[in-house]
Amino acid sequence: MSRTEDTEQGGSRTGDTEHGGSFLVVEDLHAGYGDVRVLHGIGLRVGRGEICAILGPNGAGKTTLLRALCGMVRGRGTVRLDGTALTGRSPDAVARLGVGHVPEGRGTFMPLTVEENLRLGAYTRRDRAAVQADLDRVYGYFPVLKSRLGQAAGSLSGGEQQMLAIGRALMLRPRLLLLDEPSLGLAPLVTRELFGIVRSINEEERTTVVVVEQNAHLALDIAGQAHVLETGRIVLSGSAARIRADEQVAQSYLGYRI
Ligand SMILES: Nc1ncnc2c1ncn2[C@@H]1O[C@H](COP(=O)(O)OP(=O)(O)OP(=O)(O)O)[C@@H](O)[C@H]1O
Ligand SMILES: [Mg+2]
Repeated sequence: MSRTEDTEQGGSRTGDTEHGGSFLVVEDLHAGYGDVRVLHGIGLRVGRGEICAILGPNGAGKTTLLRALCGMVRGRGTVRLDGTALTGRSPDAVARLGVGHVPEGRGTFMPLTVEENLRLGAYTRRDRAAVQADLDRVYGYFPVLKSRLGQAAGSLSGGEQQMLAIGRALMLRPRLLLLDEPSLGLAPLVTRELFGIVRSINEEERTTVVVVEQNAHLALDIAGQAHVLETGRIVLSGSAARIRADEQVAQSYLGYRI
């Protein structure tokens, strides 16, 4: 585990070589809203097929970081996905490069049915025949969605809506999946199931995942690397196992027990 002041890029580099190079590279990323500066020089690297957890207290800038990665918030600095610069691109262009974003609050279209929401997730795709196969793939991960496919998204339970939001992002066939607080408002059992499915997606499709979570324990369970964000800066980076092992250190940064 390393304090970021000790590392060159503001993030741990361990894992890069183990995981076949850095798939996602973020260097000196600054972002905010108008005059409000939120991120102050974020640096991190995520290996291909890795799960990276972003932890930190409320208001630390976790959501803003994901928004900057997917182009919803304009950032200054470097964001590269598999060597391609993402900085300065529109959210649509970033999605077309294979970045699926499941935003805080899920972003499902409530009056539309489950299947209509999933089909919307495939909007960047031209291979219409394959879209049906991908619907089946999503229903494989989330069988409950198949049994609700004609139901309005707004009438789903919280857990089902989160599954739908992730399913919709999967319809893009993302190379990178950004998940913002998937456990928010969900019962522990549902959350655990959801994280199990995220792990399956990662293992079966080699999808690289960046997950923002308040529930540090769960996130550290599935993640390889983790970074703790505090007032727009990464203050702690390391392997998830080491951060978990040193609960006291993590707690002093996070402000809560993990
Ligand atoms: N649309 C916005 N306009 C102006 N300021 C914003 C906006 N969204 C977020 N902020 C500010 O940016 C800072 C970081 O917010 P952000 O939502 O990224 O934090 P977070 O780590 O995701 O917090 P939480 O754990 O509560 O979700 C906060 O001070 C917040 O008030
Ligand atoms: Mg947030």
